[in-house]
Amino acid sequence: MARILVAYGTKHGSTAEIAAHIATRFTLAGFDTDTLEANLGIDITKYDALIVGSPVYAARWLPEPTLILVANHQRIQNIPIALFSVGMIDVKHPGKLREEHDAWIEKAFTQEDINLNIFASTAFNGAYHRRNFPLWMRIVDSILRITPQGDYRQWDAIENWADETAETLCDMLKDTGETVTSTC
Ligand SMILES: Cc1cc2nc3c(=O)[nH]c(=O)nc-3n(C[C@H](O)[C@H](O)[C@H](O)COP(=O)(O)O)c2cc1C
Repeated sequence: MARILVAYGTKHGSTAEIAAHIATRFTLAGFDTDTLEANLGIDITKYDALIVGSPVYAARWLPEPTLILVANHQRIQNIPIALFSVGMIDVKHPGKLREEHDAWIEKAFTQEDINLNIFASTAFNGAYHRRNFPLWMRIVDSILRITPQGDYRQWDAIENWADETAETLCDMLKDTGETVTSTC
């Protein structure tokens, strides 16, 4: 059975819940799936594939999900990687999510010496709740009101992407001779 890791960054939990949902779909597709908050102590080289996601803060991925790939990039060149971003840009500026996602990924991973085997990459709407913030930020946010409050995660889109990505990965691993279950 192919072993995969869903690793994520999060500050307020919405990306963690998306990662858990993606992991459930991969498990249903027949993968042996671990789900972990990204940190440099994880041995990511022992997995057959990696699904790595981050929320976006100030137009950047969080450090941990970026660093687990960057720090190990020479040892994971043959491991297929799927990436997902989570942000609120599409809620504020509809139609911008894909373009912004490409820019976030470019900023995080496409330095000259980083060569990752990325086979899938997407972005999802996130959740934004003022109640999660420290008092000063709640006050500033309630005055500026730049980002709409609410949970904008689209679970059907998340599920569809996870299922399609699991199917693609399964075919890729079969082609490379990895053992996968008959359910893939
Ligand atoms: C201080 C702050 C800055 C943010 N900056 C961005 C941004 O630059 N682009 C974007 O699309 N979303 C931005 N967001 C929205 C978050 O990415 C979104 O709320 C996400 O779901 C948070 O994930 P988490 O709950 O896993 O931490 C920002 C949110 C906060 C609170």
